[in-house]
Amino acid sequence: MHSDLGTGDARAARKDEHVDLALSQRGGGAHNEFDDLDFVHQALAGVDAERVDLGVGIAFGAGPQHAAGEWHWETPFYVNGMTGGTARTTRINRELAIAARETGLPMACGSVSVALDDADAARGFAVIREENPDGFVMANLGVGRPASDAPRAVELLGANALQVHVNAVQETAMPEGSRDFSAWITSVEQLAAASPVPVIVKEVGFGLSRGALRRLADIGVTIADVSGRGGTDFLQIENARRVAGEYAMLTGFGQSALACLLDAPHPAPTLLASGGVRTPLDVVKALASGAQAVGVAGTFLAAIGSDGEAGGAERLVALVDDWKLRTRAIYALLGAATRDELLATDLILRGRLREFCADRGVDLGALALRSERPRA
Ligand code: FNR
Repeated sequence: MHSDLGTGDARAARKDEHVDLALSQRGGGAHNEFDDLDFVHQALAGVDAERVDLGVGIAFGAGPQHAAGEWHWETPFYVNGMTGGTARTTRINRELAIAARETGLPMACGSVSVALDDADAARGFAVIREENPDGFVMANLGVGRPASDAPRAVELLGANALQVHVNAVQETAMPEGSRDFSAWITSVEQLAAASPVPVIVKEVGFGLSRGALRRLADIGVTIADVSGRGGTDFLQIENARRVAGEYAMLTGFGQSALACLLDAPHPAPTLLASGGVRTPLDVVKALASGAQAVGVAGTFLAAIGSDGEAGGAERLVALVDDWKLRTRAIYALLGAATRDELLATDLILRGRLREFCADRGVDLGALALRSERPRA
């Protein structure tokens, strides 16, 4: 990811290593906090799946260089930021971009810093726009980069939005990682001010707390992806790159996406969620907990294949088409014709998710009885 430390070659090697290590974490059907949320089944409240509208609106505020507005996405999930910059990750980006084009999914790339410092690496990102000229594309930069990188990153991809990732836990475990996080909020503010398109601030799998979301709102950031714990684990990935694995002690650090959504302040930036999304049911759980749309990284990377081999896009297209069908079916089962109607489902929490929410003062009783609130 974004740490500026290390030579260009070392950073490129890290990209390939991240892909291998992320894929090696998959499988095993591990529990995560999406399993700690149940919907109350209402046997007679369902709607016709044909009537379900999967579209979502992502509202953003005005910035110094763009007006306020709202994006309309036809599907409530997207390909989250992963990679680019080496021969292998260029192939992966190409297959992801083809699948995004064929399915209409919005797509982010991995951190483009490597391409801003090295023209050869730029192709590995530009390929996303070449394969998908009309799609919704997000560029990605790490916090701490110079503000002048924001317009360069956006230009490289003709991007519609810029993701800025904050990844203090990853940097802490990364052998060559940064140890000074003191200027990050200023850096986010500067990158957002310099960006010609709306900025989405995201975590990378450790969550954005109520306090973090408030600080972002205070500096005018209007979209945030809480990207929580429970999926691709960058603590484990960076720790595996150490000889002695000294940072294993931080295992389990951070909050899950659902914990972040339920703990979010009111008002909050427009919330996107990611981290540990394995199925369409996880997508719907995040939407019902307050996300406007849901990012998927590791699960979609696994569908493409470890080398971005030809045919990877076809497998991802089939998976996404199936997810759309099943997302629609779950909306119908829950009696929701739209994403907003999911906010009237009753949510029951248990396990670690319940403990976290109870300690943070989330009203568990109100969540469990949302369907009985008078409708506005
Ligand atoms: C990532 N992720 C990521 N995020 C980011 O903002 N910039 C980046 O460069 C990367 N790089 C990256 C590489 C690989 C191989 C993976 C799998 C992921 C993090 C990603 O966007 C997401 O926040 C987390 O992976 C959690 O989501 P999943 O993987 O559990 O769906």
